Formats: sequence, structure tokens, C-alpha cells
Amino acid sequence: MNDTERTFSPGLKGVVAGETALAKVDGENGRLQYRGYPIGELVERGSFARVAELLWTGEWVGDAHLACAAPLDEAIEVLRRLPRSVSAMDALRTAVSTWGAVTGSLWPPTVEQARALTSFAPSALAAFARLRDGLDPIEPDPSLGLAEGFLYQLRGERPEPAAARALDAYFIVGAEHGFNASTFAARVIISTHSDIASAVAGAIGALKGPWHGGAPAEVVDQLHQMGSVDQAEAWIRATLQRGERLMGFGHRVYRAYDPRAAALRSVAESQAGVTDWLDKAVAVEEIALRVLAEFKPDYPIKTNVEYYAAAVLQGVGLAPNLFPATFALARHAGWTAHCLEQAEANVLIRPDVRYVGPAERSLPA
Ligand code: ACO
Repeated sequence: MNDTERTFSPGLKGVVAGETALAKVDGENGRLQYRGYPIGELVERGSFARVAELLWTGEWVGDAHLACAAPLDEAIEVLRRLPRSVSAMDALRTAVSTWGAVTGSLWPPTVEQARALTSFAPSALAAFARLRDGLDPIEPDPSLGLAEGFLYQLRGERPEPAAARALDAYFIVGAEHGFNASTFAARVIISTHSDIASAVAGAIGALKGPWHGGAPAEVVDQLHQMGSVDQAEAWIRATLQRGERLMGFGHRVYRAYDPRAAALRSVAESQAGVTDWLDKAVAVEEIALRVLAEFKPDYPIKTNVEYYAAAVLQGVGLAPNLFPATFALARHAGWTAHCLEQAEANVLIRPDVRYVGPAERSLPA
């Protein structure tokens, strides 16, 4: 068969490129499950530590605990030497790369490596954020869970329980989402028998692109720009009339309400301490959905996870320039789980490409 007769799908759109038992993403019906458990139940009754264990091992461990690990001295040294202007995603990718070099993690990936890397990353990011502000990094408190520990290492004080719970919920909904670009990148890398740190560093590189992981900071920006709730409708209409997009709405896969947005919204609503931001977000969401339905009556554009992610991240007091890297902390669970799954039945991921260059010819004389 020649190249032109073979199936070609730009961007691998619609191509099934693997099998997974980790997450089922049902976009038509707005459902998401990790190993069969609905995301809403996992958020309501789980914790990030339990969810991460579930992804890595398939077991529901009721008393699972995952604390931030002390960042390696070498990683702190490297972070200290980075220019202060560097983005948090660049810093996190560099720290993960240093972790790989120092620990010498080798193929095949193990659950222990997955745990170690997932608990290293928040400490590294918190250390970077403090160094950037001219402050010393803080040692982790092993009694705290990952989300709470991350906030503690950023600020040096234990967060309000409401803030810790809201960020933990965010970590749960961000943990895994099928064959997105960064996860696929991780699987490609691990499929070559490379190590887990290289796979996760590559995944962070993919997530860094604004087409993948950049929306929550822009949601915050838009909510600021529109002013008060009374002014929101006029701002939204003007934005859509200019042909611009409302951030935090619409999704390539979900045609129904994004179940992660629903789960985060209910956590945020039940937590005191994030309510100021939430009140505005809820009021603006109703207006935005009504106006979007009017503008695009034939194309359902619903709230996506980034909308309530923004409300939670802003609510717990994170700087918007840390949003994408904080998402990456949560996704470490999924990336590393995919590394384990890929390694279990490994096939080198190496698709073909259609050649469209010149036919064979001789070099100019
Ligand atoms: N605001 C206004 N119009 C929109 C929006 C939006 N948020 N989303 C889609 N549309 C419109 C488009 O302008 C387009 O209109 P047109 O046909 O008149 O040109 C139509 O709907 C279809 O747009 P597509 O980009 O083809 O639709 P798709 O469903 O693939 O879009 C996407 C998905 C890219 C996420 C889009 O909804 C968007 O840009 N949203 C805003 C950015 C955002 O919130 N991103 C985070 C996504 S969630 C995540 O990544 C985890």
C-alpha cells in the first residue's frame, strides 16, 4: 500500500492510539471516571492521595497519605541559579529533570518512583516561588497532605482547612484525563525505555503550551476586566461581538457540562473562605451561559473545568503565574500512572509519516 492510500488523520484526531484502564472520558454525556469511579464521588469522598494510589495501583486505599518530599539540595541549587524572570513551568520542568539526573531513575518505571516524583514536585515549585521572591525555601511538614503541604511550603503557615480542601479537590480533578497531548508525550517517551523523569519533564514541556494548560489565568483576567457582576453582561456581549472567546467555556470533547467543573463548583460552594470569588464566578457563569446560547444556538458551549479551577486557585490565594504549574503538580499522578501502564505492555510508539517532499533527484552540479 502506498502512503496516499493509508489512513492519515492530522493531529491524530479521532485515532485510537492506545488502551487505558485509568480514565474514561465521556464527552457526549459529560462524564469522567477514574478506574470506573465517577469524578464527583471521588471529589466528595476521596483525597488526592487516595486518587493517586488508585491511579497507580488500582486499589482504593482508605488511609492513603502522600506528603510533600524534601526537595533535593541539587534541585534547590539549580532553582536558585535560574533567572528570576523564568516561568514557573520552566522551573518545574528543570527541577524534575534534576530529580531524574540525581536519583538516576531508570526503566522500568515503578510505583515508588511515581510516588517520589509526585511528592517532590510541589516542594520544588514552592521552593522556586519563594526563591523568586527572595525568600528561603521551607522544609515540608510530613503530616500534611500534598495540596495542604504545598500551600504551607509556599507561605510558611498552615492554610485554612477550607483552602486545603478546595485545592485538594482541584488536584483530584486535574489528576488524569485520557490521551491529552502531555500524557501522550509522556507515553511516547517511556515507550522508548527511557526513565520516568524524562517522561514527566517532556509532559511538562507539552503542558506548557498555551493550547493545553493556560486557560485559568486568562479566566481570572477576564473576570477582573468585566468589573462588577452588573457590568458582566455588557462586557460579555461586547467580547463575543468582537469575535473573541470567553475563557473557561467550551471544550473539544465535552458537549455537556464538564463534570470536573461541576465537582469543583460544589466543593467551592461548600467551603467558606473561597466564597467571595465564587459568588462572582457563579453569577457571571449564569450570564455567560445564557449569552453564549444566544450567540451560538446550534453549538453547545458549556462551562469547562478551567472556569472553576480559576475560582479555586484564586480563592486559595495562588498567584496566577503559578496556575499552570499547579495544574502540572496534580497531573503528575496521571502522567506517572500512564508511564506505569505503558510499561506494563510496552510497544514502542512510532507512527508513520506521509512524505510530501520532492521526488528523488540529484544534487545540483
Ligand atoms: N467563547 C466564544 N465562542 C466560542 C467559545 C468560547 N469559549 N468556544 C467555542 N466558541 C465558538 C467558536 O468561536 C466557533 O465559532 P465559529 O464557528 O463561528 O467560528 C465555534 O464555537 C466552534 O469553535 P471550535 O474552536 O471549533 O470548537 P471546539 O469545541 O473545538 O473548541 C475550545 C474547544 C478550543 C476549548 C474552545 O471552546 C475555546 O477556545 N474555549 C475558550 C478557551 C478555554 O476555556 N480553554 C480551556 C479548555 S478546557 C481544557 O483545556 C482543560
